[in-house]
Amino acid sequence: MYNEKILELWKDPKNFGKLLNPTHKCSEINTICGDDMSIYLRVENNIIRDAKFFSTGCLICIVFASKLTEKIKGMKVKDIYNLKNKDLLKLLDVDVTPLKMQCACLSLNAVQNCLKKGKL
Ligand code: FES
Repeated sequence: MYNEKILELWKDPKNFGKLLNPTHKCSEINTICGDDMSIYLRVENNIIRDAKFFSTGCLICIVFASKLTEKIKGMKVKDIYNLKNKDLLKLLDVDVTPLKMQCACLSLNAVQNCLKKGKL
């Protein structure tokens, strides 16, 4: 069902874990399945300097969080707010069924909410 590249990313996701000394931290729950997504960010001068995530979510949730946390490093905070679900889906060549959309987008929602919540 998923290609080798996706399965490898799922087994060894980038930026999985907790960030030491984050400036921003928050958690989101996927209301469909109850799985969680915690996001840790270090923001300096309105630039995302580092990002990590921790989640109990499914393969789709994990692989998109991995790609998203890679993408946002070095981005301006204001540009993060402009990211849409469709931008996230373009990061990986994988079919996301309507049922799995909330899984795929959990990390983006968490990152945007984390920034809106403000510094710790
Ligand atoms: Fe829970 Fe995908 S089934 S995050």
